[in-house]
Amino acid sequence: MSKNSNQLSNISYQLSKNGKRMIYCFLLTAFCLLAIGCRYDMQDQPRYKAYKKSDFFSDNRASRDLSEGTVPRGFLREDKAFYTGKTETGGQTPAPNPAATPAIDASGNTLMTDFSGLVSDFPVPVTKELLDRGEQRYKVFCIVCHGPVGNGDGMIVRRGFSKPPTYNDDRLRNAPVGHFYNVITNGQGKMSGYASQVPPADRWAIVAYIRTLQISQNPNGNMSMPPANNTNGATPTTSNANTATAPNANTSGGRR
Ligand code: HEC
Repeated sequence: MSKNSNQLSNISYQLSKNGKRMIYCFLLTAFCLLAIGCRYDMQDQPRYKAYKKSDFFSDNRASRDLSEGTVPRGFLREDKAFYTGKTETGGQTPAPNPAATPAIDASGNTLMTDFSGLVSDFPVPVTKELLDRGEQRYKVFCIVCHGPVGNGDGMIVRRGFSKPPTYNDDRLRNAPVGHFYNVITNGQGKMSGYASQVPPADRWAIVAYIRTLQISQNPNGNMSMPPANNTNGATPTTSNANTATAPNANTSGGRR
């Protein structure tokens, strides 16, 4: 009998020990679940998807405009002459002067004569390296239409594409360098812009090469290239102009 009661108390002891253990386990599990359940991960934060509607903002757009003056890293582009070919005030008059409506030639080309607001000095030093780079780029991108010396008789034109105006007449000899830069950047009439294919430094290299073509076809004219040590440029900030040294100008020079 006493043996039996001993066994019984042993069992109840075991049970209560197991019961305690189970309660601990349960509490621990509950704690863990609660701890996980209370976490508020970043992916669960209240947020809008781009371009979704929002009742919070008065214009009902969830996407907000960038704050005024926001500039992506590397795109400050303070040097207006270098990046646009325009003077500080150039390109700010939206309505063109009706008196200066350009003539249209027999091929349907727009013969621009109003070059106001465009820089007339190179914003980069004109060096032999720049000209060599310009020649190489011209032969890649321009020669097919404008021809080897700029007479508008490139291979595509000989095969039927509309003939561009020659670079070798007084109108374009007297046109400021900013005009050529601007046309390469934005295109003009039938010619599309090359901004996506030709970075700014290369555009200036091509413009410099076009000037040498013009001089080569008019050797007795009074045109001349700027001296090799030209760093004055049309930019008011010489520090900017100086950063566009010739070796850099061969590539995008960090300025895109
Ligand atoms: C697919 C042919 C084609 C290519 C390639 C081309 N152009 Fe042109 N370009 C034209 C035509 C056509 C015009 C005349 C556009 C018009 O007025 O409708 C023109 C006009 C111009 C003008 C304006 C001339 C003026 O009358 O004021 C300049 C400057 C110029 N191109 C430079 C370039 C340069 C630099 C390149 C190379 C980066 C280039 N073009 C590549 C066809 C081309």
